[in-house]
Amino acid sequence: MKKLMAANWKMYKTSAGAEQTARSLVQAVAADLPGDREVMVFPPFTAIASVVEAFAGNENFIVGGQNCYPADEGAFTGEISPRMLLDLGCRSVLTGHSERRHILGESDEFVGKKTAFAVQSGLHTVLCIGETLEQRESGKLAEVLARQLKSGLGELENGVNQEVLSVAYEPVWAIGTGKTAGPPEISEAHGLVREILQDILPNTGAAIRILYGGSVKPGNIGEIISLDNVEGVLVGGASLQADSFSQIVLG
Ligand code: G3H
Repeated sequence: MKKLMAANWKMYKTSAGAEQTARSLVQAVAADLPGDREVMVFPPFTAIASVVEAFAGNENFIVGGQNCYPADEGAFTGEISPRMLLDLGCRSVLTGHSERRHILGESDEFVGKKTAFAVQSGLHTVLCIGETLEQRESGKLAEVLARQLKSGLGELENGVNQEVLSVAYEPVWAIGTGKTAGPPEISEAHGLVREILQDILPNTGAAIRILYGGSVKPGNIGEIISLDNVEGVLVGGASLQADSFSQIVLG
């Protein structure tokens, strides 16, 4: 199973800036990218086309959307469909990122609808889950992960596999805060996610990639990526510069 080294550029970068970063990334990484790793970048919608162009010809460099709406088209102002993302050259999409859950108010149920629709549309879907500090401190880690995974994957059929789905575990308290979950916390949470995945998807849950996200940096990638049940990372802040993200991709 290839490790998935993913960058979420959130609401940063113009089209030209994204293209420049993407080209620098290819230059820094493509020749040395181990065969068991792939790179995935989620630019803002307005920069998708330029990043697709910058990655052209590099099969292991994949572009994705940060969000989608669960319909092919319709009167949904401000939204974008999986079909539109595919049309731009995307092969992947994020669903349920904590900023969409907590800032935009997306419910578990809505995230589940998006996830199922995106997978059925042919996009590799990275379902994001994770607990707040309050939930962790009140002993609800397992309960929150189970609820988010069950609703997130509830509308999918058992046949879903690692080709079409990954899960990103991102503790909300570690996102953009500089606080990284330590190896014991990551191992515990990823172990729980693996158990729940195997419960929900008995045939394929063992092979679904689980990514860690939350203040991943060049200095901690080595330790994180070597943990059991960590098959990739989803990087925010440290992915914005080609130099630091290249170190993470190769780290
Ligand atoms: O999607 C990425 C996560 O929100 C992590 O962001 O690396 O800036 O903490 P961060």
